[in-house]
Amino acid sequence: MNCAVFQGRAKGWNAMKNNVLTPGLADAMVRVTELAAIAAATETGRGDEKRADAAAVDAMRSAFNAVDFKGRVVIGEGERDEAPMLYIGEEVGTGSGPEIDIALDPLEGTTLTAKAMSNALAVLAIAPRGGLLHAPDTYMDKVAVGPGYPEGIISLDATPAENVTALAAHKGVSVTEMTVCVLDRPRHEDIIASLRGVGARIALITDGDIAGVIATTDPQTAIDFYVGSGGAPEGVLAAAALKCVGGQMFGRLIFRNDDEKKRAARVGITDFDRIYSLNELASGETVFCATGVTSGSMLKGVRIKGGRVQTHTLVMTSADGMVRHVWSDRKA
Ligand code: FBP
Repeated sequence: MNCAVFQGRAKGWNAMKNNVLTPGLADAMVRVTELAAIAAATETGRGDEKRADAAAVDAMRSAFNAVDFKGRVVIGEGERDEAPMLYIGEEVGTGSGPEIDIALDPLEGTTLTAKAMSNALAVLAIAPRGGLLHAPDTYMDKVAVGPGYPEGIISLDATPAENVTALAAHKGVSVTEMTVCVLDRPRHEDIIASLRGVGARIALITDGDIAGVIATTDPQTAIDFYVGSGGAPEGVLAAAALKCVGGQMFGRLIFRNDDEKKRAARVGITDFDRIYSLNELASGETVFCATGVTSGSMLKGVRIKGGRVQTHTLVMTSADGMVRHVWSDRKA
């Protein structure tokens, strides 16, 4: 056996042994996103974003409450006064077992689901207490890249063109061979112009930047780089995923008004200009789970047919760098 591989595995296994994020807990989290995705999928294509989201939230909360852990929502559906369930600070689980922080998005891509478009997910990440940034529900500027590049090759202070040019130079290819994922929004006009100016290809997505960031880690997607602004909660979830498979990400919160600054202050953020690295967005060991609601580049969507329901989940753990695909088939 290749010794380096063996040592790598042993190290991962020891990290797992001493980690409160046990394989059993990871499996329980798979069930949580599966049940949220199944509930959301009953609303696919029905044009009602709120109903789809509510179905996912309800199912996710019930599923959490069957798990033996002391779960605390740090990234959730909103603050207590605006979210009846899975609000920031809500305690979930049976109350016995490890103390765990949770970042969740029961339905990432409410519009995608309502319109039966691809890439809607039920998603969560867990970490031991304090292991995930308590990000407010504001926007965040993000840059992300998959593994295999030197530390610091991308930066939020560089232009999109400079970032993609540096990545192309490291890969030894022309910038024209690079593909960058960007959310299709008017606010990204300058980013798109900067990238087109150096000849990079742009893969525009209508929604779902967690999947957009994760795509940079998957050679099959041919996405080399992610850039743009999106939800800060989604930024932390994407960082938790990247932490499991390697890569780099930087995020900077965007504040459009004083109310958003107050929201940030309430979760302990005082430096409003700070740039967070991947390990600051997700500082602890993490487990990341995402189940497809509608089919997309990463996951198959929920399939309900002939009295059965099938799901496809991606589960990743940072302690051992494990990436697992889980297919389930159960009675509808
Ligand atoms: P929803 O699940 O709330 O529909 O969010 C989807 C999403 O596309 C995120 O992936 C992304 O971070 C955010 O919305 C971008 O926000 P906006 O649509 O306001 O540009």
